[in-house]
Amino acid sequence: MSDKRIELHLHLEGAAPPELIRRLAEEKHQRLERVFDAQGRFAFRDFGHFLQVYEAATSVLKTPQDYARLVTAVAEGLAEQRVIYAEVFVSPAFCGNHDVDGWRDYLAAMQEASARAEARHGVTLRGIVTAIRHMGPEVAKQAALCAAETAGDWIVGFGMGGDERMGKPRDFAYSFDLAREAELGLTVHAGEFGGPDSVRGALDDLRVTRIGHGVRAAEDHALIDRLAESGTVLEVCPGSNLKLGLFPDWTSHPIDQLRRAGVPVTVSTDDPPFFHTSLSREYDRLAEVFDWQAEDFQAINVTAAKAAFCDAETRARLL
Ligand code: ADE
Ligand code: ZN
Repeated sequence: MSDKRIELHLHLEGAAPPELIRRLAEEKHQRLERVFDAQGRFAFRDFGHFLQVYEAATSVLKTPQDYARLVTAVAEGLAEQRVIYAEVFVSPAFCGNHDVDGWRDYLAAMQEASARAEARHGVTLRGIVTAIRHMGPEVAKQAALCAAETAGDWIVGFGMGGDERMGKPRDFAYSFDLAREAELGLTVHAGEFGGPDSVRGALDDLRVTRIGHGVRAAEDHALIDRLAESGTVLEVCPGSNLKLGLFPDWTSHPIDQLRRAGVPVTVSTDDPPFFHTSLSREYDRLAEVFDWQAEDFQAINVTAAKAAFCDAETRARLL
């Protein structure tokens, strides 16, 4: 299997180990109800409930120092999975409530923790500022402003997650234009809970080069061809899709079909402790179900390296 594992789609808060969330809640004397199951794992019923549990767990992350501890824990987990490079989604909504100066303090703490983790474990992290779609276009603009103000070595991209069923892609075009002008890489969650039209909207109105998930593009042959011809990279997270009920089982997942049709696909974990997965588990299942070999994993990681939003020098180390 490939030695150069890369994750392009990983939510920082969504990668928080449950133990860290529990410890922070204890330290702050904060009660966290209905977040964990009897085994102490994150638990939810469906996507709407997942978003609620996610925000409840995230509510214990209050200070820049908390975010530094989160980055340290997530980087350690990535190093255990032999990941050498990851782009993490970070949301100014949670870090200083979109106040640009407050956001800079969180960012400084995260960047410092990331540099320490790189020196210790050899894992490189970069950040993608992420708007949360169900907070609406006005709030997304504030996230884009934070992104544009801090674009640079560590913040390399702008994206949007949250509930894809809310609003139209063009409602968010201003935010993506702002981020593009700041020379940030662009990605958006689409084709997860939205169908092919949502993916088309992302391409036409937001002009992204990568799509978070994008798997429901498999329902539309013309769209599959368009993704293949334009070289739009899909950040596919199969375990997440299965846990959130997009497909009934691994054999029904379209990742292999999309890849065979020439769509550049990559593999990530999204929110691994929430979906009770890890990158190794994802790779093992893909090997088992689709008979992917070492050279297939190597190829998807080359695709990921080429699609990474980092500078050319960093990218060269990933190839
Ligand atoms: N935020 C965290 N995980 C997400 C997902 N899978 N879809 C949309 N928004 C998210
Ligand atoms: Zn995601």
